Parts: sequence; structure tokens; C-alpha cells
Amino acid sequence: MAETYEGAVDRGLEGVVACTTGVSSIVDATLCYRGFKIEDLAAHSNYEEVVFLLWNDRLPTAAEYETFTQELWASQSLPVGLVETLKSLPHKGVHPMAWLRTATSLLALYDDQAQNDDDVSRKSVAMRLTAKLGTLVALLERIRQGKDYVQPNTDRSLAWNFLYMMIGAEPQSEFVKVLDTCLILHADHELNCSAFSARVTSSSLSDIYSAVVSAIGALKGPLHGGANEQVMLMLQKIGSVDGAKEWVTKALANKEKVMGFGHRVYKNGDPRAKILRGMSQELCEKSGKAEFYDMSKVIDDTVQAEKGLLPNVDFYSATVYNAMGIPTDLYTPIFAFSRVSGWLAHIFEQYANNRIYRPRGKWNGKENQVWKPRS
Ligand code: ACO
Repeated sequence: MAETYEGAVDRGLEGVVACTTGVSSIVDATLCYRGFKIEDLAAHSNYEEVVFLLWNDRLPTAAEYETFTQELWASQSLPVGLVETLKSLPHKGVHPMAWLRTATSLLALYDDQAQNDDDVSRKSVAMRLTAKLGTLVALLERIRQGKDYVQPNTDRSLAWNFLYMMIGAEPQSEFVKVLDTCLILHADHELNCSAFSARVTSSSLSDIYSAVVSAIGALKGPLHGGANEQVMLMLQKIGSVDGAKEWVTKALANKEKVMGFGHRVYKNGDPRAKILRGMSQELCEKSGKAEFYDMSKVIDDTVQAEKGLLPNVDFYSATVYNAMGIPTDLYTPIFAFSRVSGWLAHIFEQYANNRIYRPRGKWNGKENQVWKPRS
């Protein structure tokens, strides 16, 4: 008889506390990074400072900030050989998250510290990954448009450079600010599916790149980071404010999931969604796309009224990115470009207090099978 595990099965590990963490916390509708409220960070900080905070458990001094940003910004460019290899890869009909997963894995082959397990090398690898993920996403867009790779400006922020490298021109300062805020809002989120994937992989003492590639794979799914793209596709399918209520009511009646709603942890609303809703309204109006915000609001009201579900981070980020003219299938890669900093904080935390993740499965398969030769 097979060994059985008699404990209760927690499908989706709901309510299971898998590790201690000091990276970010969710209490009711309050999200903090290292004890700082997300609203304060979004209003006053910038992405680079948040990355320092996530990795060091405190805000930087002015001198530390200077050194940190210099190193981070100087790490944004890609090895020439990698750019050439990436240009030769298929991209038509390839989802950008699949491309990014592969590109990140390839990046490891150009990093001679990728396999090192000392703290200095690991911090250096983390710098490169955080700096280069946005460059990779921007490069994919250039390749898809048949355009050349744009070298980053190492005196400018990651948000500024992402837009600059993608469009090949100086970005609007308002869009840089908006993207920077989005990067802050997406940087970490306690033990979400992708951070947990990163921790599981690093718990075998595998290398940082392997853990980040695992996380990219997890983020890609529509129940996690992939939802932002699905939200935009849904809005485009609905097409007008007039049809929005009926469309959503029908979808809910058919037991379909409305993307960008619901959350395993937040039952009283996602604080990031509240910030993004304001940004979406302002940007959609300014960019002549008010209809997308208006549709979103109708969907929001309808899902709340009919199902009691509130929007999550993915719902209003979709229209924010759309108003900035970012291609829909790049929304989730941008999420990865931000979230990599949080994954890295979790990977460091896992290495520092490691025990391999190895849960049990409760047996529900066949028993007492007897092998016979093929007939
Ligand atoms: N639309 C319609 N119904 C929903 C939705 C939704 N978006 N979310 C949950 N429900 C319903 C489920 O159908 C289920 O109903 P039932 O009890 O009648 O069967 C109930 O609410 C509980 O939902 P679960 O899927 O069991 O909740 P879980 O905690 O496992 O999943 C998740 C959370 C994945 C976020 C879920 O709400 C969902 O699929 N949302 C849509 C996808 C999405 O927006 N994902 C992004 C999440 S944020 C992030 O990862 C970045």
C-alpha cells in the first residue's frame, strides 16, 4: 500500500504560512514594503529607492542612494553577443513573457558570476537582473518593429530608460513619473505565486537566474501577472461603455472569471488598485481614451454589486499602460521588470534562512497495480 498523508489538503495552500518574511506585509487592506506603507512610497519615493529598501531593509542615505543608482543605471546595457542572439530568436507569434523567460535565461550565460554563491556576487547579479530586465523588454519591442537596439542612458532612471529604449526618443516626463509609480506599486507583494516560485527554486540552493526564470514563468499566467493583459483584451472586446454592464453580467452568470478582480488575501480591496484607479482616470482623460476608464468603472461597479469582488492591481494598471501607448502584450513583461526586485529580496531572504521546500501530496491514485509484459 502506498504511503499516505493523512493531513488535510490545503488547495492552493490557502492560509498556509510557508515561511517568515520581512520583505512586505499585507494586513487587511494595508500593504507595506519593509514596514513602509505603499501609499507613502508611491507618493514620495522612486523605484530605485524602493529597490534599495527591499534589499537592505532600510532607506538609503543620500550617499548610498547616489552610489546605488550609479551602479544600477550603469548595468542597464546588454552584452553585444546577447543582443545579436536575441535578434536571431523567433518572436512572431511568441508571447513576450515566453521571450522574456528565454532572454533572462540566456542573460545568465553572459554573466560570469551567475553560479557564484557568495553575497557580493549575488548582490552584483541582482543589480544586473534588475537593471537589464526593462532593457530586454524594450529590446523585444524594437526587434518586433524591425528597429535597432537603443543603448540606455546610464545617467537616467530605469523608468526613463525603458520608455526611451522602447520608443527611441526622449520620453514625456509625465509618462516617466507614471511608469515609475507603477514600478513601485508592482515591486513586491508578500508570498504571491511568483515570489513563492522564486523561493521554492532557491530553496534547493539553485542559482539566482534559475529562481528568477521560475518566477517569470509563474507570473506569466492569467491568474497572476498575466491578468493585466487580459483586462485590456476584455475592454477591447466589450468595445463601449454602453455594452459593459451587460457583458460583465453575462460573463458572471456563465461563471466566467472577470480578469483583474478578486484576490486570495485582500477581501476589503487592494490598496494598489485605488492608487491606479486615480492614475487611470487622469491619464485616460488626458490621452483621449476616457471611454476605457468609463468602461472600467462600469465593470468595477457591476462586479462589486453582483459578486462582491473588488479590483486588484491588474485591473486599472491595464488602462494606465494603454493610455501611455504601451503595447498590450508588454503589460505583464513590465510587471516582471518591476517585480524582479521583490523576487530578489525574497531569494536573498530564502538563502539567508534556508530549508528546502518539500510538501507532501495526499495520495488519490490507483493502488496495487501489477506489472504485465506488453501484449
Ligand atoms: N471573476 C469572477 N469570479 C471570481 C473572480 C473573478 N475575477 N475571482 C474569484 N471569483 C469567484 C470564484 O469563481 C469562486 O466562486 P465560487 O466560490 O462560486 O466557485 C470564488 O470567487 C473564489 O475564487 P477562487 O478562484 O477560488 O479564489 P482564489 O483565491 O483561489 O483566486 C484569484 C484568487 C486567482 C486572484 C482569482 O480571484 C482570480 O482568478 N481572479 C481573476 C484573475 C486575476 O485578476 N488575477 C490577478 C490577481 S493579482 C496578481 O496576481 C497580480
